[in-house]
Amino acid sequence: MGNVSKVTTRSLAQMKKRGEPIAMLTAYDYPSAKLAEAAGVDVILVGDSLGMVVLGYDSTVSVTLDDMTHHTKAVVRGSKRALVVADLPFLTAHLGKAEVLKAAGRLMQEGGAQAVKMEGGEAIADAVRACTAAGIPVMGHLGLTPQSVHQLGGYRVQGKEAEGARRILREARILEVAGVFALVLECVPEELAREITEAVRVPTIGIGAGRHCDGQVLVYHDVLKMASDLQPSFVKAYAEVGRQITDALRQYVEDVRHRRFPEEKHVFRSPEVQASLYGGKGGEGR
Ligand code: KIV
Repeated sequence: MGNVSKVTTRSLAQMKKRGEPIAMLTAYDYPSAKLAEAAGVDVILVGDSLGMVVLGYDSTVSVTLDDMTHHTKAVVRGSKRALVVADLPFLTAHLGKAEVLKAAGRLMQEGGAQAVKMEGGEAIADAVRACTAAGIPVMGHLGLTPQSVHQLGGYRVQGKEAEGARRILREARILEVAGVFALVLECVPEELAREITEAVRVPTIGIGAGRHCDGQVLVYHDVLKMASDLQPSFVKAYAEVGRQITDALRQYVEDVRHRRFPEEKHVFRSPEVQASLYGGKGGEGR
């Protein structure tokens, strides 16, 4: 895929056919979207992980449609080539056709997203069908679905037993038939992710799902290690930005405390003000 042409749901399908891995990353604001774009990310997900890594909640459950719309708008302003996908908040996919269309429509029309993502399997198939019938592309999300953390009893690997694995595979097929253009597989055994990737025609995007998915997604703050206390074991951190930021901010605080900042080069001067206040003498260096 060239660097300029806009990524679409269609080009992602072609990437799967060509065996070309899809790089997806979350972003939550204008600067993170600009940096993801500059790095050549194919899909930017405005994930509701927003709630945990940006808004400080302990799960994604509290994230609202207003939050998602606000952050999606900022991400869209910072993006160009990447396909921007926005998460539908907790419960939305279960509220009936009218509500799901209203929410997904808002993320696209007001937020500017080019697609939405919904968590869940068979239970959300009607919502997927309603959106795709209305021209709203939907990305599915199976395995560990963080919005169900209270029902799952924690952030744990899903599909480790044969029955659970069979259910996830069956739900992947159901979502494909319902019309998803791609499927996120989160925290499932590598063998299961491989089986699903081979069983469905739509691209699979893994997170903690091993090496055989059609693409990978990680959370922006994890890739950069912005907050070390929230680092899942399946993440590869490519920098330690959190530590760098803290070091830099500490230096700033020290400079202020020791009056090393601001320096001469950081101040504004006005000869006129100087003359009127000090009569042209005695004001040097002030
Ligand atoms: O909200 C999110 O960031 C996600 C990814 C973990 C796939 O859903």
